[in-house]
Amino acid sequence: MSIQKTLSIIKPDAVRKNIIGQILSKFESNGLKVAAMKMKHLTQAEAEGFYAEHKERGFFGDLVRFMISGPVVVLVLAGNDAILKNRELMGATDPKKAEPGTIRREFAESIDENAVHGSDSSQSAEREIAFFFNAAELVN
Ligand code: CMP
Repeated sequence: MSIQKTLSIIKPDAVRKNIIGQILSKFESNGLKVAAMKMKHLTQAEAEGFYAEHKERGFFGDLVRFMISGPVVVLVLAGNDAILKNRELMGATDPKKAEPGTIRREFAESIDENAVHGSDSSQSAEREIAFFFNAAELVN
């Protein structure tokens, strides 16, 4: 086990449902610590840049429209094996395939509006954290 940092986004659907606290509670009660956090309304350029790896996919336009449809909470989570732990807590991308008890199974209805994003590797975590935060904004 190693201490890692990972990027999480609480997406517009979850912010609209007023469940930011319930999602943070899942992270905190499972050993992840918030190392940085801010609420923001992404611009189209930010959403397109963040999800650039998906730009050839058929769902890219809908994904960007959804991600700019309302404010999000971007946060850095830290802890033992934080990248994998966060992905386990989120559950499968499609909430219908997510395990019971996971965030997406409990709080999301569709693959398009799936409540949370989490980095999928240490390389993406590094890129995604730097996309939203500078070093001075991270604690410990
Ligand atoms: P996220 O983990 O934020 O990464 C990309 C997002 O694209 C994903 O969550 C989904 O919300 C969205 N998406 C929509 N359709 C698909 C699909 N077929 N496969 C993967 N992601 C999809």
